Amino acid sequence: MPRIEWLRREFSYGYDSGNVLSLFPGRRRRHEQKICGASYREVFARAVRPYIRRDSSVMELGPGAGSWSRAILRHIPEGTLTTVDFQNVEEWLQPGKYGGRLECLQVSDNTFSCVKDGSMDFFWSFGVLCHNNATHIREILANALPKMKPGAHSAHQYADWKKLDAFGWGDRSTIPADFKDKPDDEIWWPRNSVETMADIASEAGWEVLEPDMGLIQRDGLILLRAPA
Ligand SMILES: C[S@@+](CC[C@H](N)C(=O)[O-])C[C@H]1O[C@@H](n2cnc3c(N)ncnc32)[C@H](O)[C@@H]1O
Repeated sequence: MPRIEWLRREFSYGYDSGNVLSLFPGRRRRHEQKICGASYREVFARAVRPYIRRDSSVMELGPGAGSWSRAILRHIPEGTLTTVDFQNVEEWLQPGKYGGRLECLQVSDNTFSCVKDGSMDFFWSFGVLCHNNATHIREILANALPKMKPGAHSAHQYADWKKLDAFGWGDRSTIPADFKDKPDDEIWWPRNSVETMADIASEAGWEVLEPDMGLIQRDGLILLRAPA
């Protein structure tokens, strides 16, 4: 299932995590936070906010309906956000409302060929790498790196099966326990771990600042820096 054809088809409904910044989470965000053991407001404050400025150029992979995109746009009032997704996210994010500060790119591969080299201050994704297998993650991180400015930061949530073992499969996390008996190409939460993720990122040329920031009980969140 994490084959690229499946990823291109799935999520055509526009995956929505609710408002990730509000003090009091709505029903959707409360549910998501419960099944992954995190506070999205804290994730934004610790993994995004310190790495963006008012005028930053940010790239986001897999915005879906745009929960994290709206939060980022609010914190870069003089900057730009470029989203890259298999879906056409314009109907959900409505770039016309942002006066040229939001560009939504629909892609069919992991090349990032439509993004200008050396242009990005920060690269972000949430709920994306957890659905991509190691081959895809390697492509994503290697091909995104040339798009970054020297010393730019990047942060990504990813699946970590060891953390998932401790957190709980099935009802607790909504990740079916029978995935453990199936190969990666038949499941939507392919195997990954903090060690694998750190290896992939450094082989792709990134400096691994924190293999897991420890902000999500069920999943990892890696913090990277492009070489200066
Ligand atoms: C589960 S949704 C998450 C949406 C949003 N980030 C959130 O957390 O609310 C995953 C999104 O990532 C996109 N996606 C997954 N893998 C991708 C890839 N390799 N390239 C581009 N988009 C991808 C999907 O199309 C979908 O819109």
